[in-house]
Amino acid sequence: MKKSKFYLFIITAALSVQSCTVSLELDKKAKTFNKAAVVTAHPLASKVGVDILKMGGNAIDAAVAVQFALAVVYPNAGNIGGGGFMVYRSSKGEINALDFREKSPEKGHANMYLDKQGNVIEDLSVYGHLSAGVPGSVDGMVEAHKKYGKLDWKTLLNPAIALAEKGFPITKQQAEEFNEYKESFQKYNPSGAPILKTTSWKKGDLFQQQELANTIRRIADQGRDGFYKGITADLIVKEMHKGNGIISYNDLENYKAVWRQPVTGYYRGHKIICMAPPSSGGPALVALLQSVAQYPLGKWGFQSDSAVRVMVEAERRIYADRAKYLGDPDFIRVPVKELTDSIFNSERLKAVNLTKATVSSDVKAAKFPGYESEETTHFNIVDSEGNAVSITTTLNNSYGSRVFVSGAGFILNDEMDDFSVKPGVPNIYGLVGGKANAIEPNKRMLSSMTPTIVEKDGKLFMVVGTPGGSTIMTSVFQTIVNVIDYQQNAQQSVSSPRFHHQWLPDQIDVEKNAITPEVRKSLENAGYKISPRGNIGRVENIIILPNGKLQTGADPRGDDTASGF
Ligand code: GLY
Repeated sequence: MKKSKFYLFIITAALSVQSCTVSLELDKKAKTFNKAAVVTAHPLASKVGVDILKMGGNAIDAAVAVQFALAVVYPNAGNIGGGGFMVYRSSKGEINALDFREKSPEKGHANMYLDKQGNVIEDLSVYGHLSAGVPGSVDGMVEAHKKYGKLDWKTLLNPAIALAEKGFPITKQQAEEFNEYKESFQKYNPSGAPILKTTSWKKGDLFQQQELANTIRRIADQGRDGFYKGITADLIVKEMHKGNGIISYNDLENYKAVWRQPVTGYYRGHKIICMAPPSSGGPALVALLQSVAQYPLGKWGFQSDSAVRVMVEAERRIYADRAKYLGDPDFIRVPVKELTDSIFNSERLKAVNLTKATVSSDVKAAKFPGYESEETTHFNIVDSEGNAVSITTTLNNSYGSRVFVSGAGFILNDEMDDFSVKPGVPNIYGLVGGKANAIEPNKRMLSSMTPTIVEKDGKLFMVVGTPGGSTIMTSVFQTIVNVIDYQQNAQQSVSSPRFHHQWLPDQIDVEKNAITPEVRKSLENAGYKISPRGNIGRVENIIILPNGKLQTGADPRGDDTASGF
């Protein structure tokens, strides 16, 4: 079939399903604030951010306070023992990006998770002491505050110390999780952990963390030295010795967060500002938007057959590129310019036969000359001056390595699993990789985190991001499309059901109600495998309305809360 015929087919297919719209339970109401807004995964963390803004703090001050508060009230992903990425836009339009990603310890090496026969040892990169990368969150917050902060450092950490010391009532979802993970916490913390108790946790139980309060107080008093040196460093190294971990004093002392140039691109007149490698999020998001910009998604309709097809075929190709080219830019040259070339991305998708599913094994990464080669959390803050922060931070898996640093009260990440532990062997998110993302001493592992800021007509328009491992990039992609192509408000844009394709495995993961039975049938007839699954992502969004008010969207899939004034 000629290209013009494919195009005609997909328009016809889209029109044919418009009468049977998906029964979306879209939340039509979005909380709107006059001056400033904070959207996080936990109501208490959102409150901390708002309190700091009301004290005269700016978006960075609030972000630092929220990062530490989340380490207390949202221990499955909020952290001081993990890492993350921040995208920043000042009210004057200056943009910047901070990489506080964990890195491999000096003793890390390509074969560290393989047995003598070269096979991957199950779970070794996912749970326990050896799965932990050198944490970056504390240095990241120190750097962000040093460059842009206004309020005193200690003031920003006090709310987290108080929440840890006095305790806070856990939510229903948290009680269920604490109980569900009990066995695993026992296994990796045989001498006990703050989250372990003899009886079951219930909604409303008070969770107090005195050791964590002491650790955050050391960081409040001594800055980065309160974590990377002295008592906290002693406790981390001692913990490593207990479980064959390899993080050393040197690793801790040498950790440095890095300011990076954000990756930018355009979509229907909007400027997309997002994270650079070692996150694949920015390049992938820009490439996805550039690929689909040639198609009238808005006219086709939300989650219509044609829209799903073009979005999925774009995702399939861009995840194949991710596996081959993306890694730590301090170790390999990542072809960001080539991967985010709008003509290349547009032509590549135009050449695809959209009448039937491409088979992923037939899709290879793009060829560029000279190259061989779920649980996270996100928060957004816009202050009353219009400074904006978009941060995604993680321990990787839910509750990371499951290892609490004894005496310091915090959980260590299991970020080493985000390396390609063996070429072609999938990680916990099913993502495969190769040489570009192989383990090397001091190298940062590849990420999918996609904290993003969008400008329209040179002004701040949207602040967005999500957790969700490999689904992060496609969730942010869909949220931007929901707002720009389907005119959904901030709340609808995050409540809407989502779908996801990541090249391998070759299937479209769909949330409940993400596509109608008719669209499903049409996709299956065209050769797509549909795989129903639970929640995809927990997106947070802030949209700046033409009247300057801040419209917020907090994902209803969790306890996520928007606050502001
Ligand atoms: N640990 C999830 C990510 O960085 O993509």
